[in-house]
Amino acid sequence: MTAFTQSWTDTFSSAYADEPLANLSWFNASPGLELIKRVIDGTLKPGQRLIDLGSGPGVDAVFLSVQGLDVTGVDLSPDAVARAGRWAELAGADVEFIQGDVLDVPLPDSSADVVNDSFVFHNMRDDARSRYADEVHRLLKPGGLFLLNSFSDKMVPGTGPRRITSEDILSTFTADRFECVALYVYRNVPTRTKPDQLHWFGEFRAR
Ligand SMILES: C[S@@+](CC[C@H](N)C(=O)[O-])C[C@H]1O[C@@H](n2cnc3c(N)ncnc32)[C@H](O)[C@@H]1O
Repeated sequence: MTAFTQSWTDTFSSAYADEPLANLSWFNASPGLELIKRVIDGTLKPGQRLIDLGSGPGVDAVFLSVQGLDVTGVDLSPDAVARAGRWAELAGADVEFIQGDVLDVPLPDSSADVVNDSFVFHNMRDDARSRYADEVHRLLKPGGLFLLNSFSDKMVPGTGPRRITSEDILSTFTADRFECVALYVYRNVPTRTKPDQLHWFGEFRAR
C-alpha cells in the first residue's frame, strides 16, 4: 500500500530534485508556529526523542534539534533527505535524516516521546489512514505525544493539498488508542497563492 497517490509522490520527488526551496508551496523557511509555542510552554523540551514523519526540507526537525530534542526526520524522497541534511549542516545541528516510508518506518517500537506530522496526513489516501495511525501509535511510548498540522476544510477550496475535516482526523486517531488533548484551527503564515492558511493543529496522547 502506498501512502499518497502516485502523482503526489512524483510531485514531491521531482520538486526536491529540481526546485529552489523558496519555490515550493509548502516551504516558508519557518518552523511550525504551533511547535514554537510548545517549545515556549515547555511541552517540547530538551532530551525528548522526536520522530518527524515526512520531514521534507527539515525545517521543523532542525529547529527542534537546536532546542535540544533528539530528532530523526523520515522522508520518502532521497532528495529531501539530502537537502534536509544540508540545512542541518548549515545550522550545525545534530539531526538524523533517513529515507523511509511513513507507513513502514524503519525505527523501533515505543521509541519516541513525540511524533510530529507537518502537512503529511492531509494528502494521504483514505485507505492508508488507519495503517498510518497504527504506525504513529507503534512508534510512540505510552503517553507519548502526536502533533498534527494539516490543511483544514475552513480554507477556501483550490489547488494543493486536500482540505480535511475534524471528523477525518478523529476517525483516524481514534479514542481507543489516542486521547485528543486539543484540536483547533489556527491561522498560519500566508503564502502568495494561499493567503488564508487556516490549518488544523492536533495534539494527541498515545494510550
Ligand atoms: C508537504 S511536504 C511537508 C514537509 C515538511 N513536513 C514540512 O512541513 O515542510 C510532505 C512531505 O511528505 C513526504 N512524503 C510523501 N509520501 C511519503 C511517504 N510515504 N513516506 C515518507 N514521506 C513521504 C514528501 O516527500 C514531503 O517531503
